[in-house]
Amino acid sequence: MRWHVVESYEEMSRMAAGIIAEALERNPRLVLGLATGSTPVGTYRELIKAFQEGKISFKEAFAVNLDEYVGLAPDHPQSYAYFMEEELFSHVDMPPDHRHIPRGLAPDLDEECRRYEEVIRNLGGVDLQLLGIGVNGHIGFNEPGTPFDARTHVVELTPSTREANARFFESIDEVPTHAITMGLGTILEARHILLLASGPTKREAIRALREGEPDPEWPATCLWLHKNVDVIVDREAYGE
Ligand code: GLP
Repeated sequence: MRWHVVESYEEMSRMAAGIIAEALERNPRLVLGLATGSTPVGTYRELIKAFQEGKISFKEAFAVNLDEYVGLAPDHPQSYAYFMEEELFSHVDMPPDHRHIPRGLAPDLDEECRRYEEVIRNLGGVDLQLLGIGVNGHIGFNEPGTPFDARTHVVELTPSTREANARFFESIDEVPTHAITMGLGTILEARHILLLASGPTKREAIRALREGEPDPEWPATCLWLHKNVDVIVDREAYGE
């Protein structure tokens, strides 16, 4: 695991976008695993800027997103499909049929999980997976206690995650109770993983990750089982 401790959110975003841009230049048909949340927004801004300056193109690249809330339509402003549209896709040239995200309104959720795994398999797997981290150490929506070999599945969100995400909704009652997420096993199959963390609320989760050992109570620690991980954290998240 390669640790990069930077001074600010902006520096974290620039470094992450640089890694993604380089991977895209090397392989225009890159399969990108993408994440939502406030953490990657700055990275997406940098990527949009690089695209507008003609430095990178997403024309041949693919995206598979980590997760989606159950019960939200893609045009719901708090759905992750909507988020991706707003924060990245509508600003770059990735063809719509190259962008994948679990369908939170699928009538048969188990079937949707199987379909999503197949989407990833048919693309040849994820080349570069971008991750944020929850305050409880979750990645995607893999909550504490998730087995490290889990595939894409439906999860019941913990009260802490629903509270953390309530800021985007009118009230906590509107935060969905379930989500579909790539599993930890699915995530670990990505060829290269890039985890970002910023700000003091992530310090405890980053402290657990810094312990250097896989611990199911802190899902992100499964990344110690992977050979090719970059972690970019700002000083506030890293602690002393
Ligand atoms: C959500 C997402 C995660 C994300 C986490 C942290 O629960 N499912 O993928 O990493 O929140 O979000 P933020 O970056 O806003 O702190």
